Amino acid sequence: MAFENITVETRGNVGLITLNRPQAMNALCAALIKELGQALDTFEADDSVGAVVLTGSEKAFAAGADIKEMASRGYMDVYLSNFITNGWEQITKCRKPIVAAVAGFALGGGCEVAMMCDFILAGDNAKFGQPEITIGTIPGAGGTQRLTRAIGKSKAMEMCLTGRMMDAAEAERAGLVSRVIPAAELVDEAVKVAGKIAALSRPIVMLCKESVNAAFETTLTQGITFERRLFHSTFSTEDQKEGMAAFVEKRKPAFKNR
Ligand code: CAA
Repeated sequence: MAFENITVETRGNVGLITLNRPQAMNALCAALIKELGQALDTFEADDSVGAVVLTGSEKAFAAGADIKEMASRGYMDVYLSNFITNGWEQITKCRKPIVAAVAGFALGGGCEVAMMCDFILAGDNAKFGQPEITIGTIPGAGGTQRLTRAIGKSKAMEMCLTGRMMDAAEAERAGLVSRVIPAAELVDEAVKVAGKIAALSRPIVMLCKESVNAAFETTLTQGITFERRLFHSTFSTEDQKEGMAAFVEKRKPAFKNR
């Protein structure tokens, strides 16, 4: 499939999607979001791919929704077209894990897209922010919600109310990103991590992702009950038998995704 705003490749069992609008700091125009959704659908359906890495350039992961594209839109237009929900939330519907590899600016919708992924690896030059307030609007793709859940009220409120950017070190301290990596090594490291996940049992990885995500939607008691049910269900799989037998026999497991 030919794309204009992203590039797509596979590296072993990992799907790699690179946002590619260098002239606009990878601003997330409607065409880019549509292509991103198509690429994710393709990887989701591809049995040879076990995990996806989403990245941008060393300068910018993405500098937000495309301001030039949305500047003149009116209320009825954005309301009726459900602007921001359409297309964007496809990222959160993907059942295979998505690792965000963020170097440079991840602002506004760029930060929100990174937070829709399952975890964020940050280049040491990464800058995260929700600067919408400085252009007369507010985050519209989950920023006020996901950032608050990720880093807590005080920091999220300060960032959303002032538009202040957070560097990679602060983002790691705050728990927004799982690790900081030299920017030049970021994509290779992200593909390595995604490759490790992709080599595990596909259904067990999906169950694990589903269970962690449930923590954001339920009470602790409901979440633990949900986890327990999924945990029990793993005992119905061939891969649980294989994984545990391999441990006991001191060999590498050969998962069959069953
Ligand atoms: N939309 C459209 N174009 C953008 C853009 C965006 N979000 N961000 C950058 N660009 C364009 C610039 O207009 C510029 O294009 P021209 O050369 O044609 O003028 C080009 O990318 C390079 O940008 P700069 O010259 O500004 O580069 P810089 O290095 O001086 O600054 C930056 C980089 C700090 C990222 C700055 O571009 C910036 O502040 N961008 C906007 C950030 C922002 O406000 N994001 C929030 C958008 S709203 C949103 O995302 C809503 C939501 O919740 C979904």
